[in-house]
Amino acid sequence: MISKEVRENLQNASWIRRMFVEGSKLKAQFGEDNVYDYSLGNPYFEPPKSVTDKLKHVVNESTPGAHRYMDNAGFPEVRQKVADAINRDIVKPIAKEHVLMTVGAAGGINVLLRTALDAGDEVIIFAPYFAEYIFYINNHNGVPVILKTDEKTFEPDLDAFKAVITEKTRAVIINSPNNPTGVIYSEEALKGIGRVLIEAEEKFGREIYLISDEPYKALVYDGAVVPNIHNYFRHSVMVNSYSKSLGLAGERIGYIAINSQFEDVELFMSGLAFCNRTLGFVNAPALWQKVISDSLEETVDISQYQVRRDLLLNKLRALGFEMVEPKGAFYLFPKALEEDDVAFVMEAKKFNLLLVPGSGFGYPGYFRISYCVDLAMIERSLPAFEKLVEHYKNLKK
Ligand SMILES: Cc1ncc(COP(=O)(O)O)c(C=O)c1O
Repeated sequence: MISKEVRENLQNASWIRRMFVEGSKLKAQFGEDNVYDYSLGNPYFEPPKSVTDKLKHVVNESTPGAHRYMDNAGFPEVRQKVADAINRDIVKPIAKEHVLMTVGAAGGINVLLRTALDAGDEVIIFAPYFAEYIFYINNHNGVPVILKTDEKTFEPDLDAFKAVITEKTRAVIINSPNNPTGVIYSEEALKGIGRVLIEAEEKFGREIYLISDEPYKALVYDGAVVPNIHNYFRHSVMVNSYSKSLGLAGERIGYIAINSQFEDVELFMSGLAFCNRTLGFVNAPALWQKVISDSLEETVDISQYQVRRDLLLNKLRALGFEMVEPKGAFYLFPKALEEDDVAFVMEAKKFNLLLVPGSGFGYPGYFRISYCVDLAMIERSLPAFEKLVEHYKNLKK
């Protein structure tokens, strides 16, 4: 028999998964083209040519030993290139020794939490949040503390933030550009978060890590910039991956980069390397470390995501949906047309629209649209949104 905890988690399958399963049923009934599936955040575009060219090169030129184990933190030359890319907009540069290659951002967050948390330590997350955070924190005996953000900005209110920090707080996870809102935290917000944490560290006499989960950092619109977290707080940790920026979600490649200003930087890095090993990742995939190393600052064609964002944003706003304009990532997070977001999503399903309720992100009353999908599907889906709005208007009559 499997563990009680895992059994319980299986029973509470995520909303994204549930909607995906619903979608498969609808597609069997109505045909692929007549179902509008906005449930999954699976990157849509193919990796840039530089990545596929390098992949062929690495495979063809493979030298003896290329596929062996390496240092648990990754290849030094790859870590150097990652550090160089991070250092482009940093005040105090980080060293390659402070970068650890990981199995995606998901692997990175788990390695980090395993390294930093004692049992019972609290980790603050901001709703709406990436639902997997709860499991990652629980994996390492931490306690998730959820703080709801303001619905106008989806950034944390600093007084409320201050109020949830306790003597047990060990980490805070932020995610910008955000899944599910698409919001990019402003420099002002990051400075504020940094200030609150400095005060809290002083008050409670312990370090609090600010974990910045940034897999969408390169997917930004209208020239938006994601500020470098290391400029705002001494105990900052960047977690990133190439899942979205290079369209490599299935290849599982990312990194952790800690602020070189940590007092115990060597010990922390040894802890990360140890946890990367003992959680069973051992090291990030050797082949993919090499493949991405010359494409770190490239991206999939972001303009194609922007076309999708603009089309949906304009259409949905014209239909009366309220939402904050997303500046990055590939999600929209509009207000549902009734208070009960789950009921709303079930109504939408009647029009073959698969949406994810805000409740799945700890934020009821809203819903998520993931627009990393075929443009033709978005165009085909627009009449269904019109019908859904019409349906709600009729209900109110
Ligand atoms: C906010 C957020 N963090 C982390 C991840 C995991 O990314 P990766 O594929 O790099 O593990 C995702 C994936 O969707 C995400 O949305």
